[in-house]
Amino acid sequence: MSRYDALLKPLTLRKLTIRNRVLSTAHASGFGQDGVPGERYQLYHEEKAKGGVGLTIFGGSSAVAIDSPGYMRQIYVGDDAVVPHFRRFADRVHAHGAAIMVQLTHIGRKIGWDHTHWFWPIGPSRRHEPLHRSFAKEMEDWDIRRVVKAFGQAALRCKKGGLDGVQIMGAGTHLIDQFWSPLANARSDKYGGSLENRMRFGLEVLEEVRAQVGEDYVVGLKMIGDEMIEGGLVPEDCVAIATTYAKTGALDFIDVVAGTAFNLIHRARHIPGMWAPIAPYLQLAGAIKAEVDIPIFHGSRVLDVETAARVVAEGHADMVGMTRAHFADPHLVNKLREGRVDDIRQCVGASYCNDRSSTGREIVCIQNAATGKESVLPHVLPKASARKCVVVAGAGPAGLEAARVSAARGHKVILFEAGPRTGGQLNVAARATWREALSGIPRWLDGQVRKLGVDVRLSTEATAERVLAEAPDVVVVATGGVPAVGCFEGIEHATTTWDILEGRAAPAERVLVYDDLGDHQAASTAEVLATRGARVEFVTPDRMALQKVGYNNLGIHMKELHRLGVVITSDTRLHRVERQGNRLLCVLRDDYTEAEEEREVDQVVAEYGTKPRDELYWALRPLSRNLGEVDPDRFAAGQPQNAVNNPAGRFMLFRVGDAIASRNVHAAIHDSLRLAKDF
Ligand SMILES: Cc1cc2nc3c(=O)[nH]c(=O)nc-3n(C[C@H](O)[C@H](O)[C@H](O)COP(=O)(O)O)c2cc1C
Ligand code: SF4
Repeated sequence: MSRYDALLKPLTLRKLTIRNRVLSTAHASGFGQDGVPGERYQLYHEEKAKGGVGLTIFGGSSAVAIDSPGYMRQIYVGDDAVVPHFRRFADRVHAHGAAIMVQLTHIGRKIGWDHTHWFWPIGPSRRHEPLHRSFAKEMEDWDIRRVVKAFGQAALRCKKGGLDGVQIMGAGTHLIDQFWSPLANARSDKYGGSLENRMRFGLEVLEEVRAQVGEDYVVGLKMIGDEMIEGGLVPEDCVAIATTYAKTGALDFIDVVAGTAFNLIHRARHIPGMWAPIAPYLQLAGAIKAEVDIPIFHGSRVLDVETAARVVAEGHADMVGMTRAHFADPHLVNKLREGRVDDIRQCVGASYCNDRSSTGREIVCIQNAATGKESVLPHVLPKASARKCVVVAGAGPAGLEAARVSAARGHKVILFEAGPRTGGQLNVAARATWREALSGIPRWLDGQVRKLGVDVRLSTEATAERVLAEAPDVVVVATGGVPAVGCFEGIEHATTTWDILEGRAAPAERVLVYDDLGDHQAASTAEVLATRGARVEFVTPDRMALQKVGYNNLGIHMKELHRLGVVITSDTRLHRVERQGNRLLCVLRDDYTEAEEEREVDQVVAEYGTKPRDELYWALRPLSRNLGEVDPDRFAAGQPQNAVNNPAGRFMLFRVGDAIASRNVHAAIHDSLRLAKDF
């Protein structure tokens, strides 16, 4: 008997048996094409099925009606064109033994109005939706009838498409939970007022869906266990909703989550990241499970199989959502079954996936570059036909990934690192107050490269002589970058964010943090400085702080900056820094009027990305066969690089990550995977 048994036991819902208790819950992947799940979408979910997941719910919010626009390239279930795509999709997932369902929704007022068909958003009431800044039209009786019917028709299409079930969306501040919530519903008719009345619309939807699909089909509901906002639904309300819906007999499972998407901080809490404890909302699922007699699903920051197994074994829920956990490793369940728990690449909660999704872009995982790109990037690396010698210079995320992939392909790999440990810039980033878990990314990579037999040489700079002494077939320069402070006069007076984060420079009393990048670095540094007692002004030329950070992390950074009393000044460029005795005089310029203001501070900390550390690349380039060239078309198509510019050259040479240009962790890992998979 293993401690994972409870997780690996099947679950039966009506006539459907799900092979284990692990599910990937619905999420907006951004992979839809013209309202249908095309090849990319299907391959992405098929990979999880191959990897052993019990159930995958796709279609993070597939629309049942035309006035619920799929702004995130979502699926449209409002007409029959989708049915053949569902059939193919279902066959594909079933072929690997997993079950597949789709989430159905009407998004109601949670949308702007300037989308595809320029429809007015509809909602229970006219109330302003703060995140999308929309004012909904209060739904009339015929709107309600139409949407209820549309849910039923959409569910029937799912059944005809061979999907194993549907999940009705009553979470994330979509139309059904808009009706439930006093924050969105101010009606005075039979759909508003008492909780009983506010539940009516969703009950009509459920009744219609069941009527359309019949008794032998699985119908679930995703709902919140607590809106966690003043004036919103409290846990008692949610238990009452769950019990009322379960009592209808029309429902087969409830997936419980928490929070609303009311504003940025609530949105961040709704899908918690590395700032939050593990499984923070488990008790809400347990509270509902205690009151209903249908299976409860729950997933919110369940990242490891140990916790997942406990969730089921201790009876908090019957199935565990491990959604981002599957972005990070779609083969999680198979690795568990095979006793390879250490090989699971665990989600670290960086929320980069979410940040992209929240700003209308397709999801990627910060650390697993193959996710969502299955047609060109493999999750399981095939052995190469011939064993080569691959030398990698630099053991940051790009170098570690290049070494991992090369070694998994069966090559001899030597990994040089000038510093005393692997991890590169991630070691700096993980020094920030709430982002320590980033250290999980290099920790896993380091463990893998050692397991795969990579010759890791720490505290050994990769000089040209050392590299050439290995007689390599391929050299990967992953030497990263050095921090830059910017383009203002007096840059010599500025301290780098790395110096603060790594403790080489002590925080002074009055600090001006100048952010000309707009990503995490400067905000993390300001938070560290303020936490250690500095009075911080955060100055940026952008129209808002952290312009490059998506909503989920933005919400947490802004909360921290505000909580710590950091003053934020936007639209303002740092023009000049002068030393005046013990103090630094900063001249700031309004980016529009060019009016100048001065600040007297004790320290200027500035962020301007990194400058490539590329001496090794330039030293090796004349000796290489390709002279470092990469063909971008082959790169994008996932084909091997084959440039020959110097036939006498002894090896192929590639640069990856910040050694090319200042970017981020995902970009670095992506560079390495798409090159090294073909070595
Ligand atoms: C990028 C992204 C998009 C999401 N979109 C949806 C969605 O459309 N519908 C939904 O019900 N949940 C959505 N979710 C929430 C997930 O279903 C899940 O509740 C959440 O990620 C917490 O589970 P996890 O910690 O296992 O990832 C999304 C999550 C992510 C990360
Ligand atoms: S981006 Fe971060 S939160 Fe998202 S799946 Fe990857 S590790 Fe997890």
